[in-house]
Amino acid sequence: MTTMTAPRGTMTSARVRDVMPEQLPRIVMPQCDVRKVLRGQKALVTGANSGIGRAVAIALCQAGADVVINYRSGDEEAMRVVEDATHCGCKTNGRAIVHKADVSKEDEVRAMYERMFAEFGTIDILVANAGLQKDATFEDMSLEQWNTVIGVNLTGQFLCCRQAVREFKRRGVRPDVSCAAGKIICMSSVHDAIPWAGHVNYAASKGGVMLMMKSIAQEVAPYRIRVNSICPGAVRTPINRPAWETPQAYRELLKLIPYKRIGEPDDIARAAVWLASDEADYITGINLYIDGGMTLYPGFEAGG
Ligand code: BGC
Repeated sequence: MTTMTAPRGTMTSARVRDVMPEQLPRIVMPQCDVRKVLRGQKALVTGANSGIGRAVAIALCQAGADVVINYRSGDEEAMRVVEDATHCGCKTNGRAIVHKADVSKEDEVRAMYERMFAEFGTIDILVANAGLQKDATFEDMSLEQWNTVIGVNLTGQFLCCRQAVREFKRRGVRPDVSCAAGKIICMSSVHDAIPWAGHVNYAASKGGVMLMMKSIAQEVAPYRIRVNSICPGAVRTPINRPAWETPQAYRELLKLIPYKRIGEPDDIARAAVWLASDEADYITGINLYIDGGMTLYPGFEAGG
């Protein structure tokens, strides 16, 4: 057997992996102008009192949409999102209201849409974001842990998407508002593609979201309804705090992220605004991975 060695002076893959984060270029975060690309649109963001949902709700509002901030617990947190979304001194922001509902309950979802229609008249954009983790090793995972995660992450998205599609089809396209009759963004995860030991319920729910989203997209495209998923990697939110809150944990996390920084909620929010806008009008049925390269099999930087 012959072994190949890299020529002298070549940066081997092993050396790339061994570079310490402090030797890499300084992180510069994007400073992007707010553009009113969603003016006059009505949006619902579920699970919008914290993390990614919060950032998305604020960004939609700043882009000019009126937004329903759905949440399940944490009244004060939800009210603070309304303030952040509407009271930043910019009069061209949309309006925001809060609505408490458990997205896994059909009657609560129905009531949430009724309230939204009473307040805002209709819906143009759904961001089905509410999601949670109940982690356990597979053999210890209880049926309750399984059902809770599937109930919120998958059934919750089904219930919210169904209600939105009914309204989009009833109302149709209003060309002065958008080219599409409606836009749905399912908040998924890199774990719709990357298996995740110790999180079987979560990965199953996100894998389910992927084919649910694509099947809905195929079915409703003729009605000019666009349905897509955003698949975040590791984003700095409460759901994954242990993965970034200590320097050691963060260093370990960076081994999974070729771009060598954690994602921030605004990384997702900017993409959600764009995907919901007419700038993305010909896009339906896609998984948009926003993950700093986490889905690039970073383990293969130095192997294979
Ligand atoms: C999970 C996070 C995790 C990330 C990357 C997300 O979907 O909610 O806890 O850090 O995937 O593994």
